[in-house]
Amino acid sequence: MVRPFTKWTIRVQNKEADFRYKHVNLRDNSESVAMYSSEAFEKTECERFFEVAIHTRYWTLFYNVLSVISDTFFNDFSDPIRYIVLSIPIIYFGSYDGVSQDSLAGTITTYASMLSHLLEVLTACASVIFAYSRLAGSAKRVYDFMCYTEDGPKPEGGDYGSKTKCDDILYEFDRVTYCTPNNGGKVLLKDFTLKVNQNKNVLITGPSGAGKTAFLRIISKIWPIKTGVLTVNAYHYDILPIPSNLYMPNGRLTLKQQIIFPLTVDKASKCFDDQQIMAIIKELSLDSVLHLCNGLDSIVDFEWAERLSLAQQQRIGFARILYHRPELALLDEATNCLSPAAEREMYMMLQKRGISYISTGNQPLLRPCHDIEVKLNGWGGYEVFDLSKSNADKGMVLP
Ligand SMILES: Nc1ncnc2c1ncn2[C@@H]1O[C@H](COP(=O)(O)OP(=O)(O)OP(=O)(O)O)[C@@H](O)[C@H]1O
Ligand SMILES: [Mg+2]
Repeated sequence: MVRPFTKWTIRVQNKEADFRYKHVNLRDNSESVAMYSSEAFEKTECERFFEVAIHTRYWTLFYNVLSVISDTFFNDFSDPIRYIVLSIPIIYFGSYDGVSQDSLAGTITTYASMLSHLLEVLTACASVIFAYSRLAGSAKRVYDFMCYTEDGPKPEGGDYGSKTKCDDILYEFDRVTYCTPNNGGKVLLKDFTLKVNQNKNVLITGPSGAGKTAFLRIISKIWPIKTGVLTVNAYHYDILPIPSNLYMPNGRLTLKQQIIFPLTVDKASKCFDDQQIMAIIKELSLDSVLHLCNGLDSIVDFEWAERLSLAQQQRIGFARILYHRPELALLDEATNCLSPAAEREMYMMLQKRGISYISTGNQPLLRPCHDIEVKLNGWGGYEVFDLSKSNADKGMVLP
């Protein structure tokens, strides 16, 4: 009886979460909605999500009615119920015929009190069962979420090799195959083998949907490896991912907090001082952002992703790299909103500090900033090109 209610509780919570997420998404994209004048479309969509949530809730009504009956009926009607039950053997079966009135009154009082306790226990058991099934539904959702966040993707045939700090190989792919994570996923890269040394920078190219971002997801352990072994000789915090659409946490944080993210200000102040952050801001020409924020430590009165241009956000992404100085930066089209000259400057900053990087993107201007190109065809095939040689031949190495 409990199991179906638990399942329906999970479904109801899923649908309600979808409905709430639709609203958050609408709020985040209100500017685009206004530009497209798509208010009517959004209204229909919100109503659709609402209807799905309500219809899913209908199926749990049966259990809710049972729960209400058990809670109220037995509590409110406990007196009539117990006297009706007690009257049956006396009136209909004559079981107490010939018993004196005093003795019958005593028996009725005893049994009425026992019945009253029994009804109380039954009511309490029923409420516990209903409360438990509701809780079990919510707990299952939290449990599934925690399993995923703690264990990461379920391991398939592939694996991650253990770190070895004895040589200067930063990462090594040994016959690695990966697919899209859906059922019967499409193979994006097959039997890929590559060893990359410190300070050798790799560019991943290929048509849209070929698996360039997926390549970075595999290194970040977000997607599982199907077969083969990938060894990355950098610790978790020595790899910093920078997507093209930079994640800037909301909550009107300070500029300093955005730059040092994911560290918090109290932890960061021990290892870096404000002057060094100011030097990074100057180097990245972020003075206008500093002015907009009234300095490093003022709490701003806007949301970052809404106020800053995409190019400014990408510069903040690079400020994070210069601040954290990871061993390896994963740059997913992280400069595609900048001018070619600014792109070159950003890469020069990383090279000057000896930060290795893997970038994705198809702009020809990226080639002079990298040593190796891995070109994916989207069906598992790949080609590897040594760019350092061709760059040198064309005189295209960074100064
Ligand atoms: N969560 C997911 N589940 C299943 N398939 C996915 C998922 N995310 C992406 N894909 C698929 O994986 C393939 C590779 O996606 P990926 O984002 O790596 O492409 P890309 O080469 O980076 O493309 P682009 O140049 O447009 O950024 C695409 O076919 C995409 O539809
Ligand atoms: Mg991509």
